[in-house]
Amino acid sequence: MFILNKINMAKKSGGMRIGILTAGGDCPGLNAAIRGVGKTAIMNYGMQVVGISDGFSGLINKEYQELSERDLSGILTLGGTILGTSREKPFKSKGKKKNEIRKPDLIKEHYDQMGLDCLVCIGGNGTLKTASLLAKEGLNVVGIPKTIDNDVWGTDLTFGFDSAVNIATEAIDRLHSTANSHKRIMLIELMGHNAGWIALYAGIAGGGDAIIIPEIPYNEDKIAEYLVQRAEQQKPYSIVVVAEGIRNPGKERSVAHYLSNRIYEMTGLETRETVLGYIQRGGSPSPMDRVLATRYGTATADMIAKKNFGNMVALKNDKIISVPLDEVAGKLKLVEPDNPLVLQARKLGTCFGN
Ligand code: F6P
Repeated sequence: MFILNKINMAKKSGGMRIGILTAGGDCPGLNAAIRGVGKTAIMNYGMQVVGISDGFSGLINKEYQELSERDLSGILTLGGTILGTSREKPFKSKGKKKNEIRKPDLIKEHYDQMGLDCLVCIGGNGTLKTASLLAKEGLNVVGIPKTIDNDVWGTDLTFGFDSAVNIATEAIDRLHSTANSHKRIMLIELMGHNAGWIALYAGIAGGGDAIIIPEIPYNEDKIAEYLVQRAEQQKPYSIVVVAEGIRNPGKERSVAHYLSNRIYEMTGLETRETVLGYIQRGGSPSPMDRVLATRYGTATADMIAKKNFGNMVALKNDKIISVPLDEVAGKLKLVEPDNPLVLQARKLGTCFGN
């Protein structure tokens, strides 16, 4: 009753009521984005802000909390997400029992019961696809692109990527000295799902000798030949940066383990492998990610105030723009094999395994 009165009071004063959720894998910068949307909405537009728990699960289970400006203070630098997240995909639910209400219908019902005028979905490709489908079902939705993978179509950059590249670069930097001491081939496997953005950027920043990404199919013999050539040139060690999404024909869970074994078999050179894993997603966002997430957040609140729904905020040539969600949904932004960075790295002798 109290909540309903609060909702009605805000509606009478003309303020909108917006829900924010974070879905999919977490990444640094989520809290900066939540803060950016929420503070701008409350302080500039007199909106009410509701934080929905654990991605789309929170909408299905009606788990949420009111967020005041005070609640949004002090979270800019925090890693993770204060709202929690999940990989719930409401349009993909399997085994729906007879007479069971469709999850998207449940979401629509709860959206109305919560008195929402707009839903802000902060997420990567899966989340933005769901956001676009919810918009088609009649909800007012705005998307914010986040992911360490940087593979969202329609934007130059997602927040989370810069932090992940910083972490991965530091890890590669640290491999150089131990590789040199032991005269070894060091492989490092980086995240990125089906895209090679993290491996490409961290590989170049960390001076990786070979960078193997899903967008450029590799040939094991070429990698082996290249590493033997380096050894013959008296280069005491080599660093091979591997994106997790490259072809893994082996039985090993990690492709870096597979390639490490193959390289040893083919060259006789001593190899070791590191799988960096979730460390790339943890901890405080980099300054660049804090800035980008803040820009996306404030622009989202401005879009909502203008009733610019069904769109995603995006970055194009350092300007914030909005892109229709149904253009973004279902597409991936991958590294073009002739991306200037790839061509420049080749000029420095970097091997891409082809
Ligand atoms: O999308 C971010 C990401 O970290 C990918 O790089 C990785 O493949 C995936 O999420 C891991 O997902 P999960 O958290 O479900 O293990």
